[in-house]
Amino acid sequence: MAYTLEQLEEALGSVYSVRLAHLPTPLEPAPRLSAALGDVEIWIKRDDCTGLAFGGNKTRQLEYTMGQAVAGYYKGVLQGAASQSNHCRQIAAAAAQLGLRCHLLLQRDSHAPTPGHPAQGNLLLDSLFGAEIHWTDAPLGKAFDEAKKALAEKLRAEGESVYLIGGVTGKAYGAVGYVKAMCEMVRQWGDSAPDYLYTCASTATHLGLVTAREALGLRTRVEAIAPIVWDYDARLDLQRHVPTVAALLGIDLIGKPNAEDIHLDEGYVGPAYAVMTPEAREAIELTARTEGILLDPAYSGKAMAALIDHVRRGVVPPGSKVVFLHTGGTPALFCYADELTA
Ligand SMILES: Cc1ncc(COP(=O)(O)O)c(C=O)c1O
Repeated sequence: MAYTLEQLEEALGSVYSVRLAHLPTPLEPAPRLSAALGDVEIWIKRDDCTGLAFGGNKTRQLEYTMGQAVAGYYKGVLQGAASQSNHCRQIAAAAAQLGLRCHLLLQRDSHAPTPGHPAQGNLLLDSLFGAEIHWTDAPLGKAFDEAKKALAEKLRAEGESVYLIGGVTGKAYGAVGYVKAMCEMVRQWGDSAPDYLYTCASTATHLGLVTAREALGLRTRVEAIAPIVWDYDARLDLQRHVPTVAALLGIDLIGKPNAEDIHLDEGYVGPAYAVMTPEAREAIELTARTEGILLDPAYSGKAMAALIDHVRRGVVPPGSKVVFLHTGGTPALFCYADELTA
């Protein structure tokens, strides 16, 4: 049931979107990083360069999720996450660009500002974009989603027109952005497809990449490295929602993917979400010093740490070609100054 690249690209055109990203992003060889690791050919897909407030994977997703807000004539949007959320920073920028009001529900976590420690990184940028910030102590997961829904109801009761980004709908529309990214990469690598595609992903990014892989019948193995362990079964969730994304595109992937084609590695999260591990620090330093490319401690640094470990342990066999999809997250680097200089 594989579709051609042209068919999938045509299907993408049927989903309403707004233009936010600088595309295509470059797919660049990483020769010095490859040499530092041994017999492996690493390329980096520069989705840290998607544009929109320092770039990152959310730009592509927002073309479709903010597209839903615009198509529905909403006057504002609401999203929520950790205080250093890249998603929230990019939503705040997109809302400013599209003339929408932006509400963010942020978690009062260890990076939230305290007396003497003003906002840094993504949170500082949220304010610059004029987002209205609301705080909660709810832990990420079901409790947080409930808090977000309650805030949406409160704002609507006060007369605001708010589009709530998130849930299955947000995930599925966001994933369409990564179906498009996969099409872009397939055009870029042409006849020399990689053996592996490594990236930091656990929700929409992974869902989009796997949907496109199934639709195109690709052999490249998508290896998602999780930044967080969710309070639900992320593999099952992904398997359930590939047909949902396919339905948005008007294609048929019912019954796909098979469980053995889902590769989500939760072994590099470390003690907790957004806590930098020694391996992530090594990955950040190695990538910076060999390629002049910045990664971040919560997401892309942990994904690169996994790739490095997999190459060293032979999980990625010698002679393999690997594309590392860089999902961005670099504005958060400045919040980890203590850990990065310790
Ligand atoms: C830099 C970065 N990489 C990866 C991810 C994971 O993306 P997704 O949840 O779409 O799989 C995020 C999510 O916030 C992110 O900010």
